[in-house]
Amino acid sequence: MRSRRSCLAVPGSNPRFLDKAQGLPADEVFLDLEDSVAPSAKEQARKNVVEALRTGDWAGKTRVVRVNDLSTAWTYRDVIEVVEGAGDALDCLMLPKVEGAVQVAWLDTLLTQIEKATGLPVGRIGIEAQIENARGLVEVDAIAAASPRLETLVFGPADFMASINMKTLVVGQQPPGYTEGDAYHYILMRILMAARSHDLQAIDGPYLQIRDLDGFAKVARRSAALGFDGKWVLHPTQIEAANEVYSPSQDDYDHAELILDAYEYATTVERRGAVMLGDEMIDEASRKMALVVAAKGRAAGLTRTKTFEPPA
Ligand code: GLV
Ligand code: MG
Repeated sequence: MRSRRSCLAVPGSNPRFLDKAQGLPADEVFLDLEDSVAPSAKEQARKNVVEALRTGDWAGKTRVVRVNDLSTAWTYRDVIEVVEGAGDALDCLMLPKVEGAVQVAWLDTLLTQIEKATGLPVGRIGIEAQIENARGLVEVDAIAAASPRLETLVFGPADFMASINMKTLVVGQQPPGYTEGDAYHYILMRILMAARSHDLQAIDGPYLQIRDLDGFAKVARRSAALGFDGKWVLHPTQIEAANEVYSPSQDDYDHAELILDAYEYATTVERRGAVMLGDEMIDEASRKMALVVAAKGRAAGLTRTKTFEPPA
């Protein structure tokens, strides 16, 4: 799986940002043709995005383009121009405001046709589906199952809050008056369950108060704690915070690697399925939890600082 701790939004209408994004340490960049681009700038933005993918240096980053949603007149041309123009320099397309499996199936079919027509390997370009309205959330299981190209489900809090008439304009913050618990818990969990039951990543959306890094980190920690894999970033200052929040801590990473070693030793050398690691009883379920943390730590470039000593 690709690392997506930080997913940087870059407006396709702004060549300076398209240039600058290449030097930033985000795991993913998505070049936007949708809501950060004015209607009158949509056509030029397609050209900018193709040019940036073709000529830019995006090494080490997952390259994504967000097309317009299917209620507009722009989507099919977005897909055709971007994939015909730069399909070999593109990892995924992001489809916003997805409301049903049929929309993902449409994109899958169109991608297959363009790949066949242009000689690209069929099926290599992935899909990221944004869940950002009530209909999308109600249909999220079917959406998650709609195509083998799907790699992630992405929560779109701004559109979502508008869609359900949530009583606040501050994206990601608790609506005033709601004092019991977390107003986003159900939505995040619903998306996470659909994602995990189809082996997809779950990505949290943007935090718009870009000068409030503490607020960003707090909201990010909330979805990271549940199990989300990463979050959108709108500004360079948010990248480092996202990379940190969605990576395991050094302690957790070391602990996970120790559990894997200890459990391997227990099951193969000692032939036991449940053993003690220090004061902790570990078994097959512990191994599964440790695998997740170890994989995230390795993907984040952590190296272990503790080695396993077999019991004397
Ligand atoms: C992102 O697209 C959002 O609507 O929050
Ligand atoms: Mg949106």
